[in-house]
Amino acid sequence: MRSIIATSLIALAAPLTAAALPTAAIAQAAPAYERSIGGTLTRIDAIAPDIVRIRVSRTGALPEDASWAVLPAMRTARVAVTQAADGFSTAAMRVRVDPATSAISIADAAGKPILIDAAPPSYDGQRFTLNKRLGDGEHIFGLGDKTGPLDRRGRSFTLWNTDAGITETRDPTYKSIPFYLSVGGESGAYGVLLDNTWRSWFDFGHRAAGVTSFGADGGPIDYYVIAGGTPARVVERYADLTGHPPLMPKWAFGYQQSRFSYMSADEVRSLVDRFRADRFPLDVMWLDIDYQYFARPFTTDPKTFPDMGRLVRDVGGKGVKIVAITDLHIAKAPNRGYAPYDEGLHQDRFVHAADGSVFEGWVWPGTSVFPDFTQEASRRWWGTLYKDFVRDGVAGFWNDMNEPALFNVPSSTMPLDTVHRIDGSGFAPRTATHAEVHNVFGMQNFRGTYEGLERLRPTERPFVMTRATYAGGQRWAATWTGDNYSSWSQLRLAISMTLSLGLSGFAWTANDVGGFGGGPSADLLTRWFQVATFMPIFRDHATKGSPPQEPWVHGTEQAAIRRAYVEERYRLFPYFYALAEETHRTGAPMMRPLFYDHPEMVNAPCDTGASFALGRALVIAGNAFGESPAPYDACLPKGRWFDYWTDAEATTTVRDNGPFGKQDVVRLTPRADTLPVFVREGTILPKQPLVQSLSDTPVGPLDLHVWPGPDCATTLYDDDGKADPATRRAYRRQHVSCTGAMGGNRVTLAFAAAQGAYRPWWREMRVTIHGWPATSASRGTVDTARHTVTLTLPASTRPSRIVITS
Ligand code: GLC
Repeated sequence: MRSIIATSLIALAAPLTAAALPTAAIAQAAPAYERSIGGTLTRIDAIAPDIVRIRVSRTGALPEDASWAVLPAMRTARVAVTQAADGFSTAAMRVRVDPATSAISIADAAGKPILIDAAPPSYDGQRFTLNKRLGDGEHIFGLGDKTGPLDRRGRSFTLWNTDAGITETRDPTYKSIPFYLSVGGESGAYGVLLDNTWRSWFDFGHRAAGVTSFGADGGPIDYYVIAGGTPARVVERYADLTGHPPLMPKWAFGYQQSRFSYMSADEVRSLVDRFRADRFPLDVMWLDIDYQYFARPFTTDPKTFPDMGRLVRDVGGKGVKIVAITDLHIAKAPNRGYAPYDEGLHQDRFVHAADGSVFEGWVWPGTSVFPDFTQEASRRWWGTLYKDFVRDGVAGFWNDMNEPALFNVPSSTMPLDTVHRIDGSGFAPRTATHAEVHNVFGMQNFRGTYEGLERLRPTERPFVMTRATYAGGQRWAATWTGDNYSSWSQLRLAISMTLSLGLSGFAWTANDVGGFGGGPSADLLTRWFQVATFMPIFRDHATKGSPPQEPWVHGTEQAAIRRAYVEERYRLFPYFYALAEETHRTGAPMMRPLFYDHPEMVNAPCDTGASFALGRALVIAGNAFGESPAPYDACLPKGRWFDYWTDAEATTTVRDNGPFGKQDVVRLTPRADTLPVFVREGTILPKQPLVQSLSDTPVGPLDLHVWPGPDCATTLYDDDGKADPATRRAYRRQHVSCTGAMGGNRVTLAFAAAQGAYRPWWREMRVTIHGWPATSASRGTVDTARHTVTLTLPASTRPSRIVITS
């Protein structure tokens, strides 16, 4: 963390030094601002030039300095500030506090407003509400995978982890990520994290026009304001604050097949055989609750899944991994040889009811108890429960129902007075009520899983999938959007929910492809496959009683389209993997809204529909109303864009969106067999030969597809797929750039010296320049029909340059 802080200091300080040289720098540990007015204490810490932490306490004393979300090194970091009579400045922010009212105003270094109090905090018992001005131009994003449009402005939300299927308007849902991103205001972009685990709410100009208000039922007023200027910068700084996502195992990028439930090991084997016989790429089979004995976590049904190790070996021999569900509810099955219960009870590992008894609730296994995940010792114990599955080679784990969800109670969860023990993360050991712990309980559940797997299998990257989380959970798990339905509107929702997770720290995201409930029509499942091809995780999943949903269910014609897309995903693996490594280093999501890299597009109404970007190179431009055969307009960022499938240049026209400004759009006519995808001029796209499993070594050269143009560069990245990114991982990284233009007759490609000692699988690189205008070239083979020139080079770690002229 230290290095991240140091880097950001340098990056921010450099352009601003002349204007912002601290004249009266304060001591490191002292607050940048602290004052009590009318018994209410306001303390503001500058933890980085571009991030302040604000705490307000009516008791005049601050609660312990602790957080489940914010990394300790960031929470306790301090930078020098320039003091003013009524506040302070950093290199990137000016903070002023009204001496009479304590109203806080935050602006950027140029004085452009970021976040300004609209009214003093209001209180109702333990509840508090903060009120901030919402500028005319601001669009609001984030809060995890809340439903409805991507832009949250004009709506209000409750954050209380809830097991409720997804609908357009459902709220609250499974996750609580109290972070929002504002784009389009006077300072460009900023972010706010309310670090409070209690039931909280956010209102973005819904009840009062021009006011953002947020608050919680209890707990501290403790929030962070991130100045950024651009959405990308804010999202990356939010990742610095709450943690970067880990690099997942390579197989996690492959096609994943799930169902509630495949009922026997033999069924799983025969499905794997079908995938292989159909030559449909597959990397993972998921086991839902029915593989267990009476739905008891950490058991297997002796009749239907008699030998997990053998199943893992059998499918493993065909390049397929097993991911198994392990929910957090432990069956109350005393003295029946069920160690998780007997051992947990003996060690006092479970959450207690208010009367001191072990808390019991009804879930899949019947009466169940719940590990006390906010306590370090209980998390450690939970981690040990994975020992047998790890020995058997189960590759990844699925932590579901961790809101925590309970059946047969109106609240769907534990009573608010349930007693948890907490410690660590800055918290002194104490007990806490469920009202405080609820939103963070699921996150500590999957943290326990992740850390347990790290201990049990230190050289492997843990793969954990969660349903519930709090801010910062991206450090330990991937997530999916929960129980959706097979409908066109839910496909659209899957896109906006996944995008929103990416803006809220979670880059590793999935949705139930095809819909969890309802059963998709042939064309809906095909379109969903096409869209999921370009999403971070691709898992087809469906509920009990719904029709089969495997790729081949609607006949060979549909299966062929679905296969072609999944194959394209496998070919694009080198691009995905380089993006994931960037995500791990910077926090930038792989799948992004168009305004992420093109903030001026935040006003484009078509950016919140079905379009999204995969990295900077590709724009996926589906139809927001997928059931409609009518032509539609997709927005494209400025510059030249080319059809990924045909290389035809997109013909854009300017659409006048009135008050929203003008926008370049391309008119598209839906076709069942094609999802429109565009590639930016100035792209180098690495691709690999097709494999049926990402554990197979590709045969042939690494392909580099080049669409020359401005800002043309990429990073080739590969590694051994092992754990511990920072130190032990063997990797290879090579920067490649190009100059030239689409249709131009001279292209230069420059390979920088490669970093890292890892030897990737490719020995050769096959470069294909797109948009080649001539019938000949100084090197390589020209394809006059496709307007390409292709040449193969030995892969080299040394710097080199190639020039191709006509
Ligand atoms: C929950 C999950 C779903 C899973 C089911 C059974 O509904 O959201 O994905 O299949 O439980 O485990």
